[in-house]
Amino acid sequence: MTMGTQGLLSGGKRKLLVLLCILEVFFIQMTSISAGRSRPSTQNLQVQTQLNLLNKPAVKSIKSPDGDIIDCIKITHQPAFAHPLLKNHTIQMTPNFHPEGVFGQNKVSSGMKKGSRTITQMWHLNGRCPQGTIPVRRTKEDDLLRASSIKAFGRKKHRSVPQPKSADPDLISQSGHQHAIAYVDGDKYYGAKATMNVWEPKIQQSNEFSLSQIWILGGSFGEDLNSIEAGWQVSPDLYGDNNTRLFTYWTSDAYQATGCYNLLCSGFIQINNEIAMGASIYPISKYQGSQYDISILLWKDPKEGNWWMQFGNNYVMGYWPAFLFSYLADSASMIEWGGEVVNSGSDGQHTSTQMGSGHFPKEGFGKASYFKNIQTVDGSNNLRAPKGIGTFTEQSACYDVQIGKGGNWGSYFYFGGPGRSPNCP
Ligand SMILES: *[C@@H]1O[C@H](CO)[C@@H](O)[C@H](O)[C@H]1NC(C)=O
Ligand SMILES: *[C@@H]1O[C@H](CO)[C@@H](O)[C@H](O)[C@H]1NC(C)=O
Repeated sequence: MTMGTQGLLSGGKRKLLVLLCILEVFFIQMTSISAGRSRPSTQNLQVQTQLNLLNKPAVKSIKSPDGDIIDCIKITHQPAFAHPLLKNHTIQMTPNFHPEGVFGQNKVSSGMKKGSRTITQMWHLNGRCPQGTIPVRRTKEDDLLRASSIKAFGRKKHRSVPQPKSADPDLISQSGHQHAIAYVDGDKYYGAKATMNVWEPKIQQSNEFSLSQIWILGGSFGEDLNSIEAGWQVSPDLYGDNNTRLFTYWTSDAYQATGCYNLLCSGFIQINNEIAMGASIYPISKYQGSQYDISILLWKDPKEGNWWMQFGNNYVMGYWPAFLFSYLADSASMIEWGGEVVNSGSDGQHTSTQMGSGHFPKEGFGKASYFKNIQTVDGSNNLRAPKGIGTFTEQSACYDVQIGKGGNWGSYFYFGGPGRSPNCP
């Protein structure tokens, strides 16, 4: 360096040029060497950093037969508490209100009882999480590497909420997402409930998914759409397999910067130590065989404003703090129930990814997928049969929906379909 500087000072223009050329070559070599080394290691560092953020130290780890590892982590160590606004948060261990009766006596105690449980999660076969912990599906390096970017992991790629009343065909096609849903709007809603049967739809290619869920929507369908979602899904890209999994999603800005699946970002606060978000559900319904269903209840605690989730009749999972949302901090303006698939149309044809059971609604019980006892929570915090239910599907020849009412099924509908067929080319 000293020599170079001396040469630079004492030499003429020619010397200077030569020196600059040498320096430049040297510099280019240095950068290419360091780039060659640092590119993988930078990515590796990002992956490790992200894994450390998502996977907290476990009190106990349980290996599920499906390949998952479920970490029992201290309830106070969950990802939600990385959120700056949750630094001093006191976890609410029970909601103040429950739409099926005042919380406290029967509800909590029934949650502790080991009653009959037809639907459960596969990892239970190999253990349970102790009190004071919550079960978290461990994110593996492969999970992150399958995502289009580390930042994109655990998040929806496109806005994908079905917009039944949109007149804009571009919005209806929605980046290839297809739906078959029932919905209500035009009122203030404070929650929703439904029982849906569980299937394992075939996914044509790994960047597609198929799900069955409830949407709680707030605001217009603009850039500030608020959404809380829960149900089951098969998503090879997200989970690395074709298993049917319990999932949640939330966003407060139409899937842009906020929100994620399950506990994959700071947001949802889990209090339940028995059910893991993103873990496999089993058993699964069989065509012309046994039917297995799950119930999901989402409701707003009128006192704290938090949105709660219950899985089945026994498992109060936890809540989304009110401050995450704008419109939903008050109430929901629309509720949707039903199925969604991604149709990537990669081979110029409609995808053969199935929705629900992969069979059309007209096949009925034991064959088609259903939502039964669909209900909404009204302004006095009571569950009600929804009024004025609409249905919506982009292409009924691919996936369809059919509503009905009566008996102990209350308001119900069948939905789904096989995707590609002669009528859905
Ligand atoms: C948390 O508490 C500390 C100490 O009382 C306080 O300085 C800080 O502002 C609080 N943070 C939030 C987000 O409320
Ligand atoms: C998921 O299912 C598809 C066919 O539907 C199959 O090609 C793929 O290998 C499966 N993936 C895994 C991880 O089992």
